[in-house]
This record gives sequence, structure tokens and C-alpha cells, in this order.
Amino acid sequence: MDPKTLADLRAADRAHLFHPSTHMRTHAAGESPNRIVVGGEGATIIDAEGNRLLDGFAGLYCVNIGYGRPEMAQAVARQMTELAYYHAYVGHGSAPAAELSARVMEWMPANMRRIYYGLSGSDANETQLKLIRYFWNIEGRPEKKKIIARHRAYHGSGIMTGSLTGLEVFHKPFDLPEAPILHVATPHFARHGLPGETERDYSKRLAAELDAFIKAEGPDTVAAFFAEPVMGTGGILPPPKGYFDEIVPVLRRHDVLFVADEVVTAFGRLGAPCGALYYGFEPDLITVAKGMTSAYLPLSGAVVSERVWATLERGSDALGPIGHGWTYSAHPTCAAAGLANLAILRDENLMERAAEAGRLLLSGLREAFDGLPGVFEVRGEGLLAAVEFGLDAKGTPFDPSRKVGPRIAAAMAEDGVIARALPHGDILAFAPPFVIAPEEIERLVSTARRAAERVLKEEGALAA
Ligand SMILES: Cc1ncc(COP(=O)(O)O)c(C=O)c1O
Repeated sequence: MDPKTLADLRAADRAHLFHPSTHMRTHAAGESPNRIVVGGEGATIIDAEGNRLLDGFAGLYCVNIGYGRPEMAQAVARQMTELAYYHAYVGHGSAPAAELSARVMEWMPANMRRIYYGLSGSDANETQLKLIRYFWNIEGRPEKKKIIARHRAYHGSGIMTGSLTGLEVFHKPFDLPEAPILHVATPHFARHGLPGETERDYSKRLAAELDAFIKAEGPDTVAAFFAEPVMGTGGILPPPKGYFDEIVPVLRRHDVLFVADEVVTAFGRLGAPCGALYYGFEPDLITVAKGMTSAYLPLSGAVVSERVWATLERGSDALGPIGHGWTYSAHPTCAAAGLANLAILRDENLMERAAEAGRLLLSGLREAFDGLPGVFEVRGEGLLAAVEFGLDAKGTPFDPSRKVGPRIAAAMAEDGVIARALPHGDILAFAPPFVIAPEEIERLVSTARRAAERVLKEEGALAA
């Protein structure tokens, strides 16, 4: 792009675009980077200055099939030419939305039946919260209203979904969390396991704590429990061994609905169709988004099990059509993108490729970082991985004002590679497109190691 056009674009951006998760003053003043992205190909993005960056986070862990797939553009153009939009109210349908709904169920556990479409993970979780209220009201148990999530969870950033999220930056300035949302412990063995405790015992302890928590609140008042199969934004935290085997029976015992938030994990990121199948549980509701279209167009879903659906049907008989609906629900063009994306994942065995890429990435990170002073833990599951930095073996954090994680991510970007510094602690996260090549994984790892060495030396954590 010629420099004059780029300068004009940047001026317009700084003057008029309100970016998410961005320091508003420094951006507006031109004191922070403003990378304008103009292209993408495979696991690489290209910016307006012609720099090619290896995207180790697939956008926001969503461009799973990789950038620049012409089949996606063709499918979307075909659908837009035929029928760009029609609504889905009062039983109206479109061919791609009907077909996609059937395809999605192939990626879900056997007890899942139907999908209500939205456009973002946040709005799909908002739908879940409404369905939970509706469910218990129809069941004749309207006092069941409390919702349990976990500290460091990420479930979105609306008023209610931001309340489900368990991260301080999303709470304090917005007077959240809103009642009746409550949080229980973050499952993280390396940080919270007790001396001599096995991972399995730690999971049993967390289940006992959840049981006690529900009893203390009153099981008759607890409606649902939300969990990401692998916690994402909160730190890429795979559950300790046996975690879901232990907590699901607790939820069942107290008749608490289980919502699996699979916005990141569904459609192959764990090397399995979804996290519920990977860990072997059957939730009552599943939230999906990112990987359904690989973010070529926005599309999310609240997936509803047979059990919940049966109650929703009784609700319609009692109350008439459900009072929930959005203009863009089941958008035909977004559904066409979903169909094309799921076809690519299947035809090219990308779920299996994600599993293999994940193994390579985690073993590479372990080799590069395990035992390095200033590194607390290397962890991952499927094609999700993280390196957490800390002052010692107990993971004592660096002074947050030193911004160790963000500085490592910035040093990597200078070197042409993107990883994401997560908001809680100094955690460098990796979730590349499934199509990342083995030599690109090597580059991710070696660039991360170089950048970390540089910053850890500046911090004195590593000998200069
Ligand atoms: C597990 C999970 N749930 C919900 C969301 C919110 O999705 P969105 O940003 O599309 O609203 C995210 C976003 O990263 C997520 O990771």
C-alpha cells in the first residue's frame, strides 16, 4: 500500500475506530502500534507495509482452516447471489441453515439435538442464560436461578456474559459480576495442587469443594454451571486429570445444568470434534462459535440437548412461541460459510492435523522452555499451548507493571511472529491455524525462545 493511503487510513482509524481491548488514549494519540492487516494466506497474515507475520494465534483462535481459502469466498458469493438473507422467525428457514444444523450435530455428543444461532460467543452464552431461566421456570422450579462459573473463566464481555467471565479487568470498571452469578476455584494443578497431592486427588478435592459450595448456596437455588473444557483466555489451562469425571456427577446429584462453553474447543481444536467428546461427558447445553466458520463470517450457536429441548417444547405448549429472537439468527450467508468450513475440515482431515501440530508444538515448547529460569510452566492440550512465566518454581508472578508477557509478545512480533499475551499473569499463548506447517511450528518456538530470553535477561531473571 502506498504510504499516503496508509497514512490516511491510520488517521481515520485513530480518529474514528473504537477498538476492543485497546488503550484508548495512546491509540488515539498515535503512541501505540496500529497494524493494518490487508491479507492472509495459510498461517500467515500480511500487513499494509508488506510485512508477513506468522500467526501463532489464528486471529483470536478462530481462523482454524487458515487464511485465504477461495472455497469460502465462492460459497459465500454463491449464497449471497441466491439469497443473501432471510429471517428465521416463525419457522422460516434457508437451505444452508437447515443443512448446517444437521452437520453441526455430527461434531457434538450424541445427546445434542438442536442449535439456536447467534453471531458471537458472547451472544450465544447470553442465549444459554435465557434458556436456563426458561427451563427452570417451565420445570416449576423458578427459585433455581444461581449460575456458577470459575475464576479466570472467559465466557464473553456483555453484562451477563462478562459476569460469567472470571477476570478482574472485565469486572471492576463495569460493576460486575451481576447477581446471581458466582465463581468457584480455577482448576490449575501446577499452581493450586497441594504437596504430595496427585492430579486425580486434586480433581476429587475440587469436586468436593463444588459439592460443598452448591450445598451452602442451597441446591434448590442453583441453576447451572458453566465451564470451558480447556480454559482459554484465563491462561490456556487444561483440566487436571479426571476433573470432569469428578465434577459432572456432583452437578447431576444436585440437578444443576451443565453448560460446556466450546467457543474455542469445538470443531477440532483439541484434535477431537469437541471438548465434551474429548473428555467424555454429555453436557446439557454447548456453546459454539469461532471454529464453526473459522471466522470467515460471524456465526455462533447455543446447542441444546434432548433433555433441555423436551422442556422447551413444553414451554411453547404452555406459553406460546418463545420470546427470544435476533434479526440475524440462522443467517443464510453465514450458514453457507459454516457449511464450506466444515467441509474443508472434514475433506482435509484438519482435526487430525490439529492433533499432530499440537503434539509438535507442545514438545517443541517443552524442549525450549522447561527448566529455563523465569519459566513457571509449559502446558497445552490439542492445538492450544502456553508458556507461563514467573519468578520461581511456585510461579510467583513478576511485578505486573513490568508487563513481561506483553513485552515478550511484542518482541516476537518484531521478529515476524504472533503469539498472544493473555490478560491474567505473564502467559504467552499459542493457538495457530490447523494448517500450520512443521517448519512454521519450529519458527514459532524458536522466535518465542529468543524473545523470552531477551526480556527475561532485561528483568534479571536470566543471566545476561
Ligand atoms: C470460551 C469463550 N467463550 C465465549 C467467548 C466470547 O466470544 P465472542 O468474542 O465472539 O463474543 C470467547 C471469546 O474468545 C471464548 O473464548
